Amino acid sequence: MAAARALSLGFALALLACEATPTPTPDLGAGSSGLRQEPAVAAASERGHDLFFGKAMCSTCHSVDREGTMIVGPNLGVGEGTTEPVARRVTSRGVQLDPAIYIIQSILDPDAVVVPGYARGVMKSPDDIPVALSDDEFVDLAAFILTIRATEPLDPAQLELARTQIPLARAARALRRATPATP
Ligand code: HEC
Repeated sequence: MAAARALSLGFALALLACEATPTPTPDLGAGSSGLRQEPAVAAASERGHDLFFGKAMCSTCHSVDREGTMIVGPNLGVGEGTTEPVARRVTSRGVQLDPAIYIIQSILDPDAVVVPGYARGVMKSPDDIPVALSDDEFVDLAAFILTIRATEPLDPAQLELARTQIPLARAARALRRATPATP
């Protein structure tokens, strides 16, 4: 009996929760689409945002939407000639890579794909400059970049995919260095 009452109370509360006005999504800053992401994704994306504009020093070259003033590298959101955030540009540029893989590759093996109109070798991998980032921090950066102006919630599996790509991108970079450049 008590259990039944608890159940129906739970049901009523669930109904109430459905009808309640949606609570505003926490402001993720640059690139936020206001879309509600899973808590783990939202937290990773927020940490990635802070790394991007802080310790990882990405914003010394990249803006995201209107946040930042640097135009050394492409805007990773929308601005300075880009009309789609980077995760959606990948496929429209004809690169057949999952966006999570492309983004980790862009960070750790930047010469693998050079964005048309930009010079090879300008972007260094954080491994090559004194910015020590852990694997968790690379995943957080990927979470931030993948959720810039996102139109659908990011599947947390994408972050695991990004993590598995870290050693592969490092190995590809090492191989690229050891192999004489082809014209
Ligand atoms: C010294 C300047 C510089 C820094 C610092 C830098 N980048 Fe870049 N980045 C570039 C340039 C230039 C390009 C375009 C050429 C290329 O593809 O390598 C680029 C390309 C990219 C791309 C691909 C963009 C596209 O349109 O496909 C991503 C993603 C990216 N950078 C992320 C990052 C992240 C994350 C960081 C910080 C860990 C970072 N960059 C730090 C200069 C920089």
